[in-house]
Amino acid sequence: MSTSSRRICLLYIFLSNLVMTLGMQCSGIRPSFRFDCYPETGSNQQNCNKRGCCWLPSPRNDRVLEGVPSCFYPRDFPSYQMDSLKQTDFGYSLNLTRTTKSYYEKDVMQLQMDVYYETAQRLHFKIYDPKVKRYEVPITTPKVAKRAPLTEYNVQFSKSPLGILVTRAKDSTVLFNSSVSTLIFSDQFLQISTSLSTQFIYGLGEHRGRFRLSSDWKTYSMWARDQPPKVGANLYGSHPFYLNLEGSSGRSHGVFLLNSNAMEVAIQPAPALTYRSIGGILDFYIFLGPGPDEVIQQYTEVIGHPFMPPYWGLGFHLCRWGYGSANKTLAVVKKMKAAGIPQDTQWSDIEYAVGRKDFTFNNNTYAELPDLIRYCHANSMHFIPIVDPAISSTQAPGTYSPYDAGIVGDVFVKNSSGNPLVGKVWPGETVFPDFFNEKTKSWWFDQIKDFHAQIHFDGIWIDMNEPSSFVDGSVDGCADTLFDNPPYTPSILDGKLSAKTICASATHCIGRHYDLHNLYGYSEAVATNSALVKVREKRSFVISRSTYPGSGKYAGHWLGDNYSLWPDMAYSIAGIMSFSLFGIPLVGADICGFNLNTSEELCQRWMQLGAFYPFSRNHNTLGSKDQDPTAFSDDMQSSTRKALNLRYALLPYIYTLFHFAHVKGSTVARPLFFE
Ligand code: GLC
Repeated sequence: MSTSSRRICLLYIFLSNLVMTLGMQCSGIRPSFRFDCYPETGSNQQNCNKRGCCWLPSPRNDRVLEGVPSCFYPRDFPSYQMDSLKQTDFGYSLNLTRTTKSYYEKDVMQLQMDVYYETAQRLHFKIYDPKVKRYEVPITTPKVAKRAPLTEYNVQFSKSPLGILVTRAKDSTVLFNSSVSTLIFSDQFLQISTSLSTQFIYGLGEHRGRFRLSSDWKTYSMWARDQPPKVGANLYGSHPFYLNLEGSSGRSHGVFLLNSNAMEVAIQPAPALTYRSIGGILDFYIFLGPGPDEVIQQYTEVIGHPFMPPYWGLGFHLCRWGYGSANKTLAVVKKMKAAGIPQDTQWSDIEYAVGRKDFTFNNNTYAELPDLIRYCHANSMHFIPIVDPAISSTQAPGTYSPYDAGIVGDVFVKNSSGNPLVGKVWPGETVFPDFFNEKTKSWWFDQIKDFHAQIHFDGIWIDMNEPSSFVDGSVDGCADTLFDNPPYTPSILDGKLSAKTICASATHCIGRHYDLHNLYGYSEAVATNSALVKVREKRSFVISRSTYPGSGKYAGHWLGDNYSLWPDMAYSIAGIMSFSLFGIPLVGADICGFNLNTSEELCQRWMQLGAFYPFSRNHNTLGSKDQDPTAFSDDMQSSTRKALNLRYALLPYIYTLFHFAHVKGSTVARPLFFE
């Protein structure tokens, strides 16, 4: 093609794009109000227009427009319309219809939206398929049959396209407005947007970053993942909840999407955000606060108030992977005591077990484990072992009863052929308990009871429960199903659902892993908490790595495998405050850092900061230099002693804060703006 005909051709493409774009009501949409129509990588004019969207690429290297989508929805993009609206005892019920299909397979062409005016400060609305029952998150939420007589919110609907607008009655602040973009509800792609009242938005975990989320075209994805914290990655837990400040009024509200499928939330500077989930239904709660702490109280009324930890659980905890033996562990406990540094609990990592197998202890290196525990108890201290969910599956029959009994009881997650799915975790090949199954819960209780008869632990540390697996999917890979390879995958690490975990097509007794993955850690916490209470007949103490809304009722959390680096110490503060929003007030980061060798200066400062973590534990990885306070100079030890003594002096206050968290759902470590 000659240069002039190439020019004509390009001009033609440009003009036809412009005509199409103008024709589709694309013009006049400010960049910050462009809602992304092609979040996958590789958008171009052709695939964008094929979706019926506008294509207006930003000039290259324009920093102001960085992140602005080139492919975005026109104002008249086909959506749902409201066919009927009727009043019900609890609020309203609407029928919604779509007449034009979206660009995703299997649109649900008819939807129902139920709006429940649950309390004066809590609105609940649910968009679902009225004909075919879809997956809904199996956590118990309050059921309200009657509409609250007076509410602090108003709700309006727009007919075509359908929109829901929720405002604060007092000052008309917009709390939720879905009309800003289009609603898509297909079998494996659900998308809804809302405006935000300000760019002051917090929550949407589990992520590493600053406490205030970025509304500068940032996407926060949720798919539980065994991943040392890094900015921009989906981490161990999933929390589709945010708190939004409303500006000069000082009021705030919260929004919770009760959906557990893989999802992402994209925030843009309008300010607005878009949820993209690949399953379930759209089940929203809006909490009117107006104080931020009241928002969290109203949120935890729905997901469950945090458990009340025993007093000792608020003391200082010491742990490491790599003590080497029970005797070496005991020596450290004694050194801590001799140095007059407060310690309430000693922990043991997977090295206590035979071949890293759950519910065993190594008769060589850890033969003295019972003595260590006896020593702790005799000195008014407590002991916590790690327990991973995955059960070793390769030993000879009759040699490892947790596996044998589990097979007999049929308690494990199944692969697509109906056999127990085999992955790989610390012991080697393993199977994964299906904690949603009542049979599994009683088998788990039996294991905990039998193990407790051997070693008298006081709490349980549940790790690797995303669930983590060192082979993607299973040792046999995954079947090629629409669950394993869905039409849309949110922007998660490695871009596939099976990365570092089990296949999405695996099955639990109540459904598919595709839907339940983000709840695995939650389900293990429920089973472990209840077993521990039954066995010890005391309040339980469980610390879990993977969490979901409601986990705080059963467990606390630590922020995972951080590094012995200064930024990691700084990020821990934002992490802890975020978990306060998630209803998990018992939270801390590995003090002095887990991965890498710490330095005395970093560890000293971190012990001083960590003395004020709600859950205060120093933990270290295999092969790193010792980092318990006694491993350092007298100066370091004395500042640690001072910081921890201050914590201990404050324990009655901290305990009281936990009491308030437990009875009314308020926070423990909270940002200053909560006050
Ligand atoms: C995981 C945990 C870590 C633990 C290690 C060995 O990486 O996050 O805390 O020490 O496993 O059990």
